Amino acid sequence: MKSIIFYRSSYRGNTLKIAQSIAEALFAELVSIDSNPAIDLSEYDLIGFGSAINFAAHDIQLQRFVSEQHLEGKNIFIFSTRCRPLLGAYHKQLKTIIEKKGGMTVGEFSCRGYDRTGPWVFMNGYNKARPNERDIFKAKLFAEKLRWKLHPLATVHKFPVTEHHFSIPIRLKGAESIAGNKVVFLNTSTCVRCGKCVKVCPMHIFALKDKALPIDEGNCIQCRLCADNCPTSSIFIKESFLNGLRIAFRESFSDKLQKSYNSDDKGR
Ligand SMILES: Cc1cc2nc3c(=O)[nH]c(=O)nc-3n(C[C@H](O)[C@H](O)[C@H](O)COP(=O)(O)O)c2cc1C
Repeated sequence: MKSIIFYRSSYRGNTLKIAQSIAEALFAELVSIDSNPAIDLSEYDLIGFGSAINFAAHDIQLQRFVSEQHLEGKNIFIFSTRCRPLLGAYHKQLKTIIEKKGGMTVGEFSCRGYDRTGPWVFMNGYNKARPNERDIFKAKLFAEKLRWKLHPLATVHKFPVTEHHFSIPIRLKGAESIAGNKVVFLNTSTCVRCGKCVKVCPMHIFALKDKALPIDEGNCIQCRLCADNCPTSSIFIKESFLNGLRIAFRESFSDKLQKSYNSDDKGR
């Protein structure tokens, strides 16, 4: 997923800290609108816009910048840092602009930022040391959730199974064929058989047959190392609380998982 983030952080660099955390989690380009960027957005799958809340809305310069972009059909997320404890309707203005430009707001994030304006000078500023590590971590989680929500295989489990390959169910999505049953899904059409998933998976879920296949998804512990290391984003883990419970249960009452974890048989 090709992503780009535009931000403005003119007061204390508060929003920049959040923008950096989100950019890192999305592997996104990070661009300050103060550099007057002229970037063709047509090839981006996800676009982020963020700034401080200044006078009850996003920075006016960011709003103007967004109004000038071609956003038709684009997935967009917005973020901000602010002084007040509650976000309220602070994002409304920017969301309205995005909607008018035909974009879809798929996620929003906001947290507190240090402010030493107006009445706050008497206490040498409000929200001291914000955004802090916790805020930055929450921004990262927000971005990871977004990345997962927009993954091309996010809804593939709803497709009917069309065939089996080495007993693994296969679903067809257009010209793509996706192997997997309930938890681990692998797009065998975009997979380049690099073998990274086979190497990094601690539970040895994957095997290189004539193509890479998730042969043991019942052991998946949802660590997502395979998906994070896949160079073509061909792997999706359908995370669920139930799967977590199932794994916790098996960890407690069986040594099968421990054996699978210890297994040296990586070349299956
Ligand atoms: C001119 C100005 C106006 C502001 N207006 C608001 C506001 O209406 N509501 C609010 O919660 N915070 C307000 N703030 C606080 C900023 O949103 C907050 O400090 C923000 O984290 C600054 O981010 P930055 O360092 O990225 O510019 C204002 C700050 C400034 C300097």
